[in-house]
Amino acid sequence: MPALASSGLRFGGARHADKLGSGLLIAPSILSADFARLGADCAAALAAGGDLLHVDVMDGHFVPNLSMGPAICASVHKALPDACLDVHLMVTDPAAYIEPFANAGAAHITFHIEVAPDPRAIIDAIHARGMSAGLAINPDTPAEALLPFLGGVELALVMSVHPGFSGQRFIDRVLPKTRLLRDAAPASVRVQMDGGVAPDTAPACRNHGCDLIVAASAIFGRSDYAAAIRALR
Ligand code: DX5
Ligand code: ZN
Repeated sequence: MPALASSGLRFGGARHADKLGSGLLIAPSILSADFARLGADCAAALAAGGDLLHVDVMDGHFVPNLSMGPAICASVHKALPDACLDVHLMVTDPAAYIEPFANAGAAHITFHIEVAPDPRAIIDAIHARGMSAGLAINPDTPAEALLPFLGGVELALVMSVHPGFSGQRFIDRVLPKTRLLRDAAPASVRVQMDGGVAPDTAPACRNHGCDLIVAASAIFGRSDYAAAIRALR
């Protein structure tokens, strides 16, 4: 299999990479925001120290839940045009959603290797729109599945819960996978942990090489977002 060529992009794509820097990033997941006041909740999470917004897209097929589509992403982008929107596609057909989310203002798109064993065409389509690309693995998928593609993406996502719902318990047996991916990936590739990350589990994520932490309930489930984000850092 020929190696996937580097896109020359970094996480956040053409519009956001320079603003994000290279240190630890915290991504509030809007799955646990109050959808009736989504713009205000997103603005508050960013003002409280969130570096970007994680947008969880579920199709009721790849995962047993429905969440949000491009219209919600477009509304957040319109309300907060400078926010970096990190779209996590938990869908069976990710290729169908590249254009809709590019048009909705996404800066980055991650999709799952479980539905795309040869992901190169999808990665190319994401890059062609100036967005950075990520590949995700579920808790039961080995990290080795991503190794052939690490040179061609800007992010590797390790799920630390079975995807579908916020508020689940962190599965700590996935931690060695983040260490393996950190050691194998180019330094420019972000290693992201998603699911059950809270102040008691975030240190282990960092110690295993994660530099992008997603948190839904540990931020939006708290009354003081700034204190919640400080606790995660
Ligand atoms: C789970 C989603 C996560 C979720 C995390 O399927 O991919 O991004 O929002 O929620 P918490 O942080 O509450 O586990
Ligand atoms: Zn997610």
